[in-house]
Amino acid sequence: MSDGLHIERYERNWIWVGIITLVIFAAAILIAGFALGFQVPGDYQRVDPQTVAQQGPFADPGIREVSPGNYEAWIIARTWTFTPKDITVPVGSKITFYVTSVDVQHGFKLEGTNINMMVVPGQVSTLEASFDTPGVYDYICTEFCGAGHAAMFGSLTVEG
Ligand code: CUA
Repeated sequence: MSDGLHIERYERNWIWVGIITLVIFAAAILIAGFALGFQVPGDYQRVDPQTVAQQGPFADPGIREVSPGNYEAWIIARTWTFTPKDITVPVGSKITFYVTSVDVQHGFKLEGTNINMMVVPGQVSTLEASFDTPGVYDYICTEFCGAGHAAMFGSLTVEG
C-alpha cells in the first residue's frame, strides 16, 4: 500500500463533524445577516460624555418627526435611567434611535425588535426599526451598571 497519509476512521469522522459544524455556523451567520435583518450597531459619532447633554440634539432628548412617518429618538442613558423614559409614536412609524451614555457603560434593548446595542460613554449608538403593530415596547438596560441596573428601563408606545 502506498497511501502516504493514513487517517483513522474515527478521526476522519470527527474531522467531518468539525467541517459540517463550521458550515452550519457560517450558514447561520449569513441567514441572520441577510434573511433576518440582523443589524450591527453603528458608531454614529464620537462625543464628549461630559458635555453631550448640554449641546446638540441630546440637549433636548426625545422623539422628533423628521418626515412623515419617520422619527428620530435621541435618548440619554445615565445611572439609572433613560431620558426620556417614555416615547409615543403612531403605528407604521420608522424610528432611528440615537443613544449615548453620560457616565458608565449601559445597554439598550428594545423588546419585540432586533434592537440590542451597547451604549458606551463617548459614542452614539444607532439602529432603526419600523413599528407596524400597536403596543408597548419596553427598552431595558442590558449591561450591568450598578445597584439600580434592574430598574433602568423605559417604554415606547405605538398607538394604533
Ligand atoms: Cu444601565 Cu444597566
